[in-house]
Amino acid sequence: MSDHELRVSKIRDGTVIDHVEAGQALNVLAILGIDGSEGFGVSVGMNVPSDRLGRKDIVKVEDRELSQSEVDVLSLIAPEATINIVRDFEVVEKNRVTRPDGVTGVLSCPNRNCITNADEPIETRFDVVADGVRCDYCSTILRADIADHIDV
Ligand code: CTP
Ligand code: ZN
Repeated sequence: MSDHELRVSKIRDGTVIDHVEAGQALNVLAILGIDGSEGFGVSVGMNVPSDRLGRKDIVKVEDRELSQSEVDVLSLIAPEATINIVRDFEVVEKNRVTRPDGVTGVLSCPNRNCITNADEPIETRFDVVADGVRCDYCSTILRADIADHIDV
């Protein structure tokens, strides 16, 4: 790709979350708990042309790597995403996200009567099902609004 086509600069060190479904970039930032106040560099490309996806979003976070639970939640909203670890300008690791069987301790249940919302020392657990994720305790299903219930 020539320089005049590159929309978002390369980074020296950090993580590039590529092939994010168009429209999900801000949700990716929400999942990572990033609002800009942390001080590290963040670049976001939205509706970038992509051979594979037509249009895609891309998120570059400098000097930060992702935890497995963050990647698990990301996979729910960006199933085609590629996570690239960059060190000294080179991609040193590239992984496709995989859909987990479930996520523990990262989403909150929207059902106010759910045991996980009582004052009990119970960790949330959602199973991944065809149309979203389902609370193990009360069977409430989260679909498009998964990103609004992140608790990491
Ligand atoms: N990237 C970056 N900074 C770097 C190196 C790479 O921001 N120092 C970005 C690239 O712009 C690209 C992504 O990380 O969006 C993956 O880089 P690379 O593997 O070089 O690109 P592709 O081969 O096109 O990746 P893929 O095959 O996954 O589409
Ligand atoms: Zn519940």
